[in-house]
Amino acid sequence: MLYSLARSALFQLDAERAHELTLEMLSRFPALAGAVMGQARVDAPATVMGLRFPNRVGLAAGLDKNGECLAAWERFGFGFVEVGTVTPRPQAGNARPRMFRLPEHQALINRLGFNNHGMTALGARLQRSRRYFTGVLGINIGKNADTPIERAADDYLLCLHHLHRHADYITVNISSPNTKNLRDLQSDAALDALLSAIAQAREELAQAESRKAPVLVKIAPDLPDSALPALVELAQKHGMDGLIATNTTLAREAVTGHVHANEAGGLSGLPVRPRAQTVLSQLRAAAGAEFPLIGVGGISSGADALARREAGADLVQIYTGFIYQGPELVRDCAHSLAQSTAI
Ligand SMILES: Cc1cc2nc3c(=O)[nH]c(=O)nc-3n(C[C@H](O)[C@H](O)[C@H](O)COP(=O)(O)O)c2cc1C
Repeated sequence: MLYSLARSALFQLDAERAHELTLEMLSRFPALAGAVMGQARVDAPATVMGLRFPNRVGLAAGLDKNGECLAAWERFGFGFVEVGTVTPRPQAGNARPRMFRLPEHQALINRLGFNNHGMTALGARLQRSRRYFTGVLGINIGKNADTPIERAADDYLLCLHHLHRHADYITVNISSPNTKNLRDLQSDAALDALLSAIAQAREELAQAESRKAPVLVKIAPDLPDSALPALVELAQKHGMDGLIATNTTLAREAVTGHVHANEAGGLSGLPVRPRAQTVLSQLRAAAGAEFPLIGVGGISSGADALARREAGADLVQIYTGFIYQGPELVRDCAHSLAQSTAI
C-alpha cells in the first residue's frame, strides 16, 4: 500500500530522477525501508559458493551502483546485494535521458553506460558500511568507456585488486550493451584471455589476502544457444565459481510499437523473462548439477522465482520487478524459494 502511493508519486517524475531521489532518501533514512516492510527478512539460509546467504533473493547489479544504500536493502529483506558495475575511474555515463519506463510491459530500457563514482570511492564507502551490513555483498566490475577494448583486462584487474578484500563475491560483467564492444568479450578467444588473466590475479590475491573471493561471470541473453556450452566450459576451465544469467537484452520484438521501443540500450523486466529462463536452463544442462548459477531477468513474482530455481538457479536477483512491484516482491520470492524443494 505504502509502496503503491510512493510509486504513483515517483512515476510522475523522469525515470532516472525518480531513481536518484529514491536512493538519496534510502541512503539518508534507511529505516524508511523497514517501515515499508514491517517485517524482518525471510530467514531461509542457503550455502552457495561456500558463502552463507540469509535467503536466496538478491538485488541485481546497477540499482545501487555506488553501494550507498546497503542498510536499506537489508531492511527490504534481500539476502544479498550486488553493487556496481564499478569501473577503475569515475565516469558520468551516457547523455540523458537514458532510462525509460515501459509500464504496459513492466519493463525498462536503459543506456546509462556505467555511470559510477569509481573503485576508490566504492572501496572507501564499503569499508565503512561493512560494519553494519550482514547480508552477502557482491561487487560487479567493468571497464571504463575510454579504455580500448584490447586493454579491457587491465580495468577488470585493477578493480579486482582494489575491491577483492571488500567483496564476498565478485562479478565480471561482460554483458552490458551500453559500453561499446563490451559484449565482444564473450567470444571464445577474448573470454579465454580475460578469464586467464583473472585466474592468475586471483592466485596472487589469495596469497596476499589469505582468501579467494568467488568470481562469477555475467552474460547476456542475446547469445545464441549454441554459444552457451563453450562459455560454461571456459568458466570452469579457469576456475570461475559460477555464472549470472542474464543481463538486459537488445531484442525488441516483445515491445514492438511502444513509444520507447526504439530507444537504444538494454531492455529489462517481463519481456526478458522467457529468454533469461531458457538461458538459465541451458546453462544448467551444460554445467552439471553442482556449478553455481544465479538467475536474473524478468522475475516479478514468487512463482517466477520458483520457476527460475526449478530451471536450475541456486540464487535469484531482481531489478525491474522491484521497481514495478515494490519491496513485497522480495518477500514473495524469498517465501516461495524457502518452500521449494528444488535442489
Ligand atoms: C537501469 C538499469 C541499470 C543496470 N545496470 C547494470 C549494471 O551496472 N551492471 C550489470 O551487470 N547489470 C545492470 N543491469 C542489469 C540488471 O542487473 C539485470 O541483469 C537485468 O535488468 C535483468 O533483470 P530484471 O529484468 O530483473 O531487471 C541494469 C539494469 C537496469 C534496468
